[in-house]
Amino acid sequence: MLKVSNLNKSFNKNKVLNNISFELNKGEIGVLLGKSGAGKTTILRCINGLENFDSGQIIVDGKIIDTSKDIYKLRGKVGMVFQNFNLFPHLNVLENIIQSPVNIFKIKKQEAIKSAKELLKLVDLENKIDSYPCELSGGQQQRVAIARACALMPKVLCFDEPTSALDKDTIKNVVNIMNKLKSNGMTILIITHDVDFANEVCDKIININNGEIEVVISK
Ligand SMILES: Nc1ncnc2c1ncn2[C@@H]1O[C@H](COP(=O)(O)OP(=O)(O)OP(=O)(O)O)[C@@H](O)[C@H]1O
Ligand SMILES: [Mg+2]
Repeated sequence: MLKVSNLNKSFNKNKVLNNISFELNKGEIGVLLGKSGAGKTTILRCINGLENFDSGQIIVDGKIIDTSKDIYKLRGKVGMVFQNFNLFPHLNVLENIIQSPVNIFKIKKQEAIKSAKELLKLVDLENKIDSYPCELSGGQQQRVAIARACALMPKVLCFDEPTSALDKDTIKNVVNIMNKLKSNGMTILIITHDVDFANEVCDKIININNGEIEVVISK
């Protein structure tokens, strides 16, 4: 479902990704582990089309990603939940979720609302549909961000440090949601420093050191 081959990326003269290659099958959860500055976020940003890369290839759902073309189609295939969630502060929960499907993907509003309600059920936040981000806890905001990313029905969902701001119980919640998504066939790529969390959710650990893959462990 996701295949990264020989990905290379420099910022000016600073080479940050050196021949990164790995694959995830449909419904697999992969974790990127590595020290601060290893290049993990840059890998996700390349996969999501937020960053151009120098050479290599990224294939999602059998199609080569060409970031120079049709970036919105790509964003529909690869969802991203950012570390700080990036919710729109002036929109309520429902509006946050339907904004992109309705305005960019031209899905009918009624349909988008129906799917949003189903997603809010999945992340157990039906009762917060009218709330604004500032009225939600960190864990709740994160679940809205997950629902929002899922609203575009991506093939691959990426998370940058999803558990860094969460307590143990809320992390359990996130593990549950990820397992539900996985059982729906979603392929998931997660950056984390939390080794316990990684071991609990993942099928594959990809260890990044200084822009290179050190080892890939399949479970
Ligand atoms: N926009 C940018 N311009 C220049 N250098 C950058 C840029 N973004 C990242 N870098 C550099 O690329 C390297 C990898 O950064 P990246 O954010 O991918 O690391 P990371 O593994 O996600 O680290 P962390 O765990 O701290 O989030 C770092 O040396 C960083 O300084
Ligand atoms: Mg990072």
